[in-house]
Amino acid sequence: MSALAARCRAPVFGRRAPRASTIRAMAVRTTYKISIEHQGKNIDLQVPEGESILLTALDKGHDLPHDCKLGVCMTCPAKLISGQVDQTGSMLSDDVAEKGYTLLCVATPRSDCKITTISEDELLDLQLMTSQ
Ligand code: FES
Repeated sequence: MSALAARCRAPVFGRRAPRASTIRAMAVRTTYKISIEHQGKNIDLQVPEGESILLTALDKGHDLPHDCKLGVCMTCPAKLISGQVDQTGSMLSDDVAEKGYTLLCVATPRSDCKITTISEDELLDLQLMTSQ
């Protein structure tokens, strides 16, 4: 190899460029396994980090109750059996959220989750009890 060719292969600024496999790995988001029990049926989903569980389910053709998709109307209530979600922006009181209740439209997974849907009445009763 000539001296010129060796200099052309020298690392710039003392660092090597990342390999293509490293760049691809950095671009792949974490995906969580979400299992939702709804009216006696089980829905299994792969939900990417930061994505709404409800919107992912709807995109996959599953029929789950919803209306506003903004965390306001409370027509998409559910209870976490296991796992954790982020539900920033939800209208749930902190007390209710700490008991594991969630609104699927604003819930984004922080881990694999098992979830069961509940009735709006059950959630509204809980909300009213904690607001007194
Ligand atoms: S769809 Fe309205 S709160 Fe979830």
